[in-house]
Amino acid sequence: MLRRLHPDQPESFAFTPENQAWAEAQITKYPEGRQASAIIPLLWRAQEQEGWLTKPAIEAVADMLGMAHIRALEVATFYFMFQLQPVGEVAHIQVCGTTSCMICGAEDLIAVCKEKIAPNPHQISEDGKLSWEEVECLGACTNAPMAQIGKDYYEDLTAERFAEMIDEFRAGKVPTPGPQNGRYAAEPLSGLTSLTEHAEGRAPYNGSVQLATEIGDTVKRIDGTEVPLVTPWLGSKSKAARPKKAAAPVAEAVAEPASEPAPATAGEAPEQAPELLSAAREGGPDDLKLLKGVGPKLEGLLNEMGIFHFDQIAAWGPEEIAWVDARLKFKGRIERDGWIAQARDLANAKDKGA
Ligand code: FES
Repeated sequence: MLRRLHPDQPESFAFTPENQAWAEAQITKYPEGRQASAIIPLLWRAQEQEGWLTKPAIEAVADMLGMAHIRALEVATFYFMFQLQPVGEVAHIQVCGTTSCMICGAEDLIAVCKEKIAPNPHQISEDGKLSWEEVECLGACTNAPMAQIGKDYYEDLTAERFAEMIDEFRAGKVPTPGPQNGRYAAEPLSGLTSLTEHAEGRAPYNGSVQLATEIGDTVKRIDGTEVPLVTPWLGSKSKAARPKKAAAPVAEAVAEPASEPAPATAGEAPEQAPELLSAAREGGPDDLKLLKGVGPKLEGLLNEMGIFHFDQIAAWGPEEIAWVDARLKFKGRIERDGWIAQARDLANAKDKGA
């Protein structure tokens, strides 16, 4: 199937402030120079916000990631999950037409789409509210036939129930996702035959359906306010960093190991710079890789900071450890791995051998 950009494109694209903060946070998951790895989540969020992926959105994401526009276009046009044409303003319905669903009635569901939405896939209904397409297996074969609508799966469908659901969406309601025939999940139609004790006290819906009903984001255009922005990979100081305005620039969020850390806060050990050298002493640097947990990369970082010898490390107290910890961003590891005692032993062994 040839996938081209739609001939009618909007003038511009901008993430909402919350989506912008979310996007910038995603970029920080990747090391410096690898920001392009965030292309798919960012394109996806742009589509969640707008309903489809516009050319200005693709280019804006490319610019955020420092990529050539053509590289982002390659990604957007390759993956079928990206909608390259406008979709219904209420919902875009993706009916699975692969084997299990087909033999369980997918063709009847497609007939309903043609009758109630539009004769052709990717054609928007006359009232502008709905669109549909047939897709390949969505991995819910035990609940065939099924359709994905917005973020959620609707399973165990019949043509009658599917037609009702389309009417409900059109009327501004969101039917509860999941099996539509009373099944809880994918258990036998005749009911559970094992693990029956787990059925007692469970949530009203199975995992993903429960979340869908709690968040209520099934066909919502995602503006970033739906769930708190949590960034555990940035450390405790950056958690729940939902900004009122746009987030801090990415460069600030991805601190280089040797950059200046934030000042110590109450409860943290004060920092004191240890003895640092501009170069290794005569005889060359010690092999810091002999310390537990230190590999070539970490040794290089220590050397860059001016740390070359075991006796330098052996002399560190809590304040010096806090200073190094903060710059290497691995709080507590120096003490946990026992660097000081090891460095002392290695320095003593070296003195004796000298
Ligand atoms: S065949 Fe339809 S979900 Fe797998």
